Amino acid sequence: MPVLAHISDTHFDGGERSAERARRAMDYIARMRTVDAVVHTGDVADKGTAQEYAQARRTLRCAVPLLVCPGNHDVRAALREHLLDEASGPGPLDRVHHLPGATVVTCDTSVPEEPWGRLEEDTLDTVEAELRRTPADTPVVLAFHHPPVELGSDYTDPIRQRGEQRLAELVGRRPQVVAMLCGHVHSAAATTFAGRPLLVAPAVASTLRTDWEPADGTGGTDGAHEPPVMIALHRIGADGRVTTHYRAV
Ligand SMILES: [Fe+2]
Ligand SMILES: [Fe+2]
Repeated sequence: MPVLAHISDTHFDGGERSAERARRAMDYIARMRTVDAVVHTGDVADKGTAQEYAQARRTLRCAVPLLVCPGNHDVRAALREHLLDEASGPGPLDRVHHLPGATVVTCDTSVPEEPWGRLEEDTLDTVEAELRRTPADTPVVLAFHHPPVELGSDYTDPIRQRGEQRLAELVGRRPQVVAMLCGHVHSAAATTFAGRPLLVAPAVASTLRTDWEPADGTGGTDGAHEPPVMIALHRIGADGRVTTHYRAV
């Protein structure tokens, strides 16, 4: 039964704090007995520099495939070149990953120079083509940075994924999609989209509270109240049911 370790929003900035927090997440994942892939749903880097991706590359090294979706803080060309060792290029970074017992499609919702997100037609075509090929009993997980729904976050709701109608229609037609994974919200959260689970990874770098929570406590990043480093673990059962465990590490 596939298990996906899901991290997000590491915001590598060249400093020791971001590296140390990501290292804690990766050390925990390395010690797990079962994990089929690590999914990173974006904002790998804070400004998208070569130096930040070099730091990410050193820190995110792992024994299983690392599947990456660019976020609004990422720069596609630099991410390709310095993290993934691919030819640099400006187009969306979409990939299909066939794992034992599940397929993960990492989709690029980033829009260069903009904080909000969108899936380009090419990306949706890639997803649609893959789903058309996928047998009915193979679970498919879609991963992207920007959530396509509001989550009650003052900060990220206005910069969520736009133009989500085509994604909703596509998912609605294809029962193989067992879950969608995203980041961007800096909060361990779970909701639904198009009738399927939409599972938001907590951010490794920091936690953003909603405006109805107390402003003190462990959510902040002021140093006095360091938020916990958190990851999500998604277990895909034989019947395609996805169970998520959120873990502070
Ligand atoms: Fe972020
Ligand atoms: Fe983001």
